[in-house]
Amino acid sequence: MDDTNKRNMNVTGVKGAKAAGPESEPLIRLEGISKGFEYDSSPIQILKDASLSIQQGESIAVVGESGIGKSTLLHILGTLDKPDSGQFFFRGKNVFDMEKTRLASFRNTTIGFVFQFHYLLAEFTSLENVMMPGLIAGMPKNRIKPEAEAILVRVGLKERLSHRVNDLSGGEQQRVALARALVLKPRILLADEPTGNLDIRNSIQVHDFLMQLNEEMQMTMVVVTHNMKLARCMQRCMTIQDGKLVDMDNK
Ligand SMILES: Nc1ncnc2c1ncn2[C@@H]1O[C@H](COP(=O)(O)OP(=O)(O)OP(=O)(O)O)[C@@H](O)[C@H]1O
Ligand SMILES: [Mg+2]
Repeated sequence: MDDTNKRNMNVTGVKGAKAAGPESEPLIRLEGISKGFEYDSSPIQILKDASLSIQQGESIAVVGESGIGKSTLLHILGTLDKPDSGQFFFRGKNVFDMEKTRLASFRNTTIGFVFQFHYLLAEFTSLENVMMPGLIAGMPKNRIKPEAEAILVRVGLKERLSHRVNDLSGGEQQRVALARALVLKPRILLADEPTGNLDIRNSIQVHDFLMQLNEEMQMTMVVVTHNMKLARCMQRCMTIQDGKLVDMDNK
């Protein structure tokens, strides 16, 4: 299937995306989301009444200029930040109605997050960093360790398992962050510039890996990227215009 066909296919016909009947609830539904910040005592409005529905297994690229609100959107989708107004439904349930500890556990087990700035634990090894979400979720060490090793091998870091993160290159750190986001096989992957620090060879590797995960596991993904090659491989490509999410017709 060429890129044009992939882009034009309806969600229900896309390989990797679950068929959605007319009354079936999307995996994620954002409704009328607004978010602003205060800067030097003046308000700046970033998202304005933005809405978005995401089906299970869908892959979405979010592209566009610096400062339009891509990371802001991702933080809201990741439940790391609350919108000023609007609703966020996960399988029809209002996420922000969840009690704090339930929300934290939902976030840890359902969402894998690759941040623009990776926030790895610098003094710990790659393996320890990738094991961390499992340990936080209460998994025994001997169960999470082989999972963490396997995912590090898949992102091409077989030889760097016991390196301290501080001693890794920027691109290697970014791949550790990706492995950490994926180790619990989350239903949703939110990635903010996952190939931003990578050379062409490594960015192709990461990019192929994301596509495989989308196909194999029906992993739903929203990826913020400036890499148009990566964006073109996603089923939908969106941007933010006047604070609203819009589909891009011509990628
Ligand atoms: N905590 C904050 N306080 C004040 N302003 C903020 C805050 N977070 C974000 N902003 C502002 O909101 C706007 C959108 O930021 P955001 O990080 O979402 O942009 P972006 O599209 O991800 O940009 P980039 O491509 O550079 O990463 C920016 O102008 C930013 O300065
Ligand atoms: Mg950003």
